[in-house]
Amino acid sequence: MSRIKPESRNILNFIRDILSRLEMTPQELVAIGERIYGQRWKTPFAQSIGLSRETISRMAHGHRPIARQVETAARLLDQNVNAAKYKERRFGAKGESVTLRKGENWAHLIHCNSVEYIPSLDGSIHAIVTDPVWPKALDCLAGSDNPYQLLTDVLRKLPESLDIKQIVIHLRCDGDPRILCAIPHCFPFLRFAWLPYAVPSPQGRLLISGDVAYIFGTPPKAANGKRLLPGHPHPDYCPHAKPSKGSTNHPCSRSLEHVEWMIEKFTEPGSTVLDPFMGSGTTGLAALRRGRNFIGMEIDPNFYREAVNRLREG
Ligand SMILES: C[S@@+](CC[C@H](N)C(=O)[O-])C[C@H]1O[C@@H](n2cnc3c(N)ncnc32)[C@H](O)[C@@H]1O
Repeated sequence: MSRIKPESRNILNFIRDILSRLEMTPQELVAIGERIYGQRWKTPFAQSIGLSRETISRMAHGHRPIARQVETAARLLDQNVNAAKYKERRFGAKGESVTLRKGENWAHLIHCNSVEYIPSLDGSIHAIVTDPVWPKALDCLAGSDNPYQLLTDVLRKLPESLDIKQIVIHLRCDGDPRILCAIPHCFPFLRFAWLPYAVPSPQGRLLISGDVAYIFGTPPKAANGKRLLPGHPHPDYCPHAKPSKGSTNHPCSRSLEHVEWMIEKFTEPGSTVLDPFMGSGTTGLAALRRGRNFIGMEIDPNFYREAVNRLREG
């Protein structure tokens, strides 16, 4: 087969071209389509590569041979889809900051776009604990139009010199875990944790009964009482956990009890924790309460101010 140089042609012609060559299974095609566009993938997939929906549908049902290299095509498409930048919502975040102290620990809060600010971080940061803008997040949040790209950009721009050991991603139980593709491969998956709410509440037909956390990286050192890496807080530990909606002005702030538990179990005492999407500062508050230092970034001036006030009041 002659080599195809993608750069020498229009990308759609290139994809159409390779579609018509080798073969792949219908299951692979469906998996790739859903991976890019979700459950209703056929129409946008067909449009992206200039075929009719009917043709794609036939391929998905095995009625027509499918080009093996659709996989390559889909990978290119995937890059294309993800490369669609999130809308830059400029909030005038210019990097002003404040440092607060509590006993031996400190918290440094920065009003900035973390994508722009993160490459300039230096010193030691040991863990990231964050609740990123998640797929389907409220439209009012910056970055909500392409949360995958936002998280990918932030994590890829982390300077290697920081020597980060753990990444903890906190999502609501209906948060789409496919956002975790943004985690760099050098952080191995460690475990999943279930963070139950004391009082579940329905949202449409879904029972929102807790949050979840995905932990990557190396486990913190074992110590007395810390030999196991638990998968959920003991019920006695957070009897009142609920999304702290109402207790802050942030539309989706997290339970302080849950975040404290994660910091306690999955980061080292005395370490520095980074939250590039700190919102109303729940991670910062939890870090100080658990004897960690904290660096937090927030792009929205209202949430930034809220975080500063919350951490000042302790
Ligand atoms: C899901 S919320 C975090 C809520 C937080 N866990 C709390 O308890 O309040 C994500 C936050 O990321 C912020 N954000 C979005 N894009 C950002 C960016 N490029 N840089 C910094 N913060 C950003 C949003 O404004 C939002 O407040």
